[in-house]
Amino acid sequence: MVITPQKLTEWKRQKRPIVALTAWDYITAQLLDAAGVDLILVGDSMAVMLGYQNTLPITLEAMLHHAQAVCRGVERSLVVVDLPFLTYQESIQQAMHSAGRVFKETGAQAVKLEGAYPQMLETISRLVQAGIPVMGHVGLTPQSIHQLGLRQQGQTPEQAEQILEQALALEHAGVFAVVLEHIPAELGLNITNKLSIPTIGIGAGVDCDGQVLVTSDLLGLSQRQPPFAKVYTNLRAQITQAVQDFCVEVRNREFPSK
Ligand code: KIV
Repeated sequence: MVITPQKLTEWKRQKRPIVALTAWDYITAQLLDAAGVDLILVGDSMAVMLGYQNTLPITLEAMLHHAQAVCRGVERSLVVVDLPFLTYQESIQQAMHSAGRVFKETGAQAVKLEGAYPQMLETISRLVQAGIPVMGHVGLTPQSIHQLGLRQQGQTPEQAEQILEQALALEHAGVFAVVLEHIPAELGLNITNKLSIPTIGIGAGVDCDGQVLVTSDLLGLSQRQPPFAKVYTNLRAQITQAVQDFCVEVRNREFPSK
């Protein structure tokens, strides 16, 4: 089965939780797909893998390059690609051009954009009319790091109301799902109840229709994880040990064996 945006909506109705993770390369994508992940996000959080402090320096060319690799490894999951900072905010034409490149050059099935202000809603609506499935993203939006920082959003009733309104406006504009990042759990629940499209939470409580994590956080590869991430295994320690074992064996002339 190939997972479609429509399938995610069906699963919301059936209350079947949606599993999403990020991938930036072929091997990881292949592993996630075979392990049963529903949605693979080629997130601009790839910045961490490339050694940047935040997502802003990521280019469209870099996203295309990595999205191509991810798509080569996926048979079943829905692949969504983040449009990077300032590759869609300037104008509808710019967004159409960037999303068009993702579709023509990678084989991904959807793009994700951050924000829900009036011009972005118009942009999303035009992309959807052109046949491009779009995923929204509200709450903490990392491309606005210099305005929002990395703190939890929606803590006051006014902010919570604003994020709810943004999510509703995104649904109205035609997104097929919306990422809710780093907001109080009650707000995640409230938005999830009010939308008919799926919510995919990251630090937004257990009641969202699905959950996404950055895979390098889940695997314990990242040097620092956000407070809401759960580390399921410590690959940093395992890799270090394996590499140290190799160093010892080479220096002792134990590898390769006869
Ligand atoms: O870039 C990314 O990995 C994301 C997730 C945090 C949802 O947008």
